[in-house]
Amino acid sequence: MLDTYGREVRTLRLAVTETCDLRCRYCMPEKGLPTRSEPLSQDELVEIARAATQCGIQKIRLTGGEPLFRPDLLEICQRIAQIDGIHTLCLTTNGTRLAALARPLREAGVKRVNVSIDSLNVSRYAEITRGGSLPNVVKGLEEALQAGFERVKVNCVLMGGINDGEINDFIELTKFKPLEVRFIELMPMGECSQWPEERFLPAEKVLYTCPMLDRIDDEGVTERYRLKDAVGTVGLIRPMSHMFCGSCDRIRVTADGMLKPCLHSAMEMSLRGLSGKELEKRIIEGINAKPATHHLNETGTQTKRSMCQIGG
Ligand code: 5AD
Ligand code: SF4
Repeated sequence: MLDTYGREVRTLRLAVTETCDLRCRYCMPEKGLPTRSEPLSQDELVEIARAATQCGIQKIRLTGGEPLFRPDLLEICQRIAQIDGIHTLCLTTNGTRLAALARPLREAGVKRVNVSIDSLNVSRYAEITRGGSLPNVVKGLEEALQAGFERVKVNCVLMGGINDGEINDFIELTKFKPLEVRFIELMPMGECSQWPEERFLPAEKVLYTCPMLDRIDDEGVTERYRLKDAVGTVGLIRPMSHMFCGSCDRIRVTADGMLKPCLHSAMEMSLRGLSGKELEKRIIEGINAKPATHHLNETGTQTKRSMCQIGG
């Protein structure tokens, strides 16, 4: 359906857990975050997905925390993939459990996966994630490439002075592999909101670093580029330097059942305990409450949650 500003809202990002095994420095405190209330049950998640399709949602992305930590994730995927009106079921993961789960997820009806990898250097990856194993995640990525997904993407959050020396290494990945490597501007939320300014790089840096990239098209909020003769593509997501809210097509539901019309707004509407027409009505209210733009550059984010509680 169209929101107040004429945007067609088709995507729901649905967080299935707040738990995560990594502690990425920009996202989580070292000791992790206290868990909030109970996560939504499997039936609640499926009912929210069904109701959302009645409000025009066609694409659902499962997120977390780390969604692969949800014990009943495969069943959740199977049930959501079967809902009439869901064209695309996708998943965003940190990849630590993907090697074993890529094929079962594909069989359960997941069409696309995004894997978050912020460094291709083993020790730097461990440093950023506070202990994550890069070889393990790369194995997960390889499995995903073999498992027959429609698309596999790599999400890399750009951090000045930390991983900006690796921009060309990430782009190289697209030469021979059918991957989309996406560079995302770091947003000052939660843990990284007090970081020094030099960490926050405009994604333009990617274009200076690799002037050989040819512009292809826009896909939602991603600008896409390609290296000549490459199999894969490169994407830029610029929430900070380019105001892309005009093409935002999404709403979010947190693991504890709060609908967020905008990632950076404090507004939340509880979906807990609702079903059928009542639930649909609340989702429509949520879509109608989407603000025109975020105010990250003026007032900073207004959400009190960290990214791992909202689900990217
Ligand atoms: N700024 C930009 N991206 C972020 N992510 C988590 N926190 C931030 C932030 N502050 C990214 C993760 C993952 C996706 C779900 O969101 O790295 O790729
Ligand atoms: Fe976990 Fe993702 Fe947050 Fe890293 S960014 S700590 S992988 S939720």
